[in-house]
Amino acid sequence: MDRRTWLAERRTATRAEYDAVAADYDSRRYPVTLQDGFVARLAATIPPGGVILDAPCGTGRYFATVAAAGRRVAGIDQSPGMLAEAAKKGIAVSLAVLGLQEMAFDSAFDAVMTIDAMEHVPPEDWPIVLANLRRAVRPGGPLYLTVEELRDDLVGAAFADLAARGLPAVRGEVIEGDVAGYHYYPGRDRVLGWLAAEGLAVVDEAQESGPNGEWGYRHFLLRSSRA
Ligand SMILES: C[S@@+](CC[C@H](N)C(=O)[O-])C[C@H]1O[C@@H](n2cnc3c(N)ncnc32)[C@H](O)[C@@H]1O
Repeated sequence: MDRRTWLAERRTATRAEYDAVAADYDSRRYPVTLQDGFVARLAATIPPGGVILDAPCGTGRYFATVAAAGRRVAGIDQSPGMLAEAAKKGIAVSLAVLGLQEMAFDSAFDAVMTIDAMEHVPPEDWPIVLANLRRAVRPGGPLYLTVEELRDDLVGAAFADLAARGLPAVRGEVIEGDVAGYHYYPGRDRVLGWLAAEGLAVVDEAQESGPNGEWGYRHFLLRSSRA
């Protein structure tokens, strides 16, 4: 199988997986905590009434935080099931079934946040997704991005397994089981390179590990340095 076909299949599997879990997604305990504070900080950097694009928003886990800060939120997601749950919250000013790779917003929002989702984006698509996120925010505007991290020996073992199965994977990619979705762990250095290439300056950075120490999230507050 060629890599492009394999990645298209992985993206379809990811969408189906989120559609399948959407209805009870919000009832699951989420074992990391820094996101909410970063969302509040992002909201505080834009004027009251300003609009944050939550891309992808999933079920709208952070909509209430944005609303409590007196800011508005718009959401996109490629999973209709997750968006249906987001719609039930009745908070977002707009919601659209749309992929990160297909977004064509141009200076339409005061801020952008991409929370716990870039792990589903393959390396080939990182530059276009970062460009789409950067273009969505007004020139000089703030962005909040999380990047999932996995212990390096687990990354290596997953790659060895995918390669042994003859799949066209690159190091950093992890598929749980035979059909479940897709994860890609680029590592901090590669991410910093992509951010710099897109003119996204790091304003603040933090890291939090999950309970077993095998994985965690790196948090980036960013500012678009492009006019
Ligand atoms: C772990 S959930 C996080 C959702 C939300 N940001 C949150 O923090 O609760 C990941 C979300 O990313 C969405 N997603 C994955 N790949 C995507 C893509 N290429 N374009 C748009 N949405 C995507 C999934 O449908 C899912 O809703």
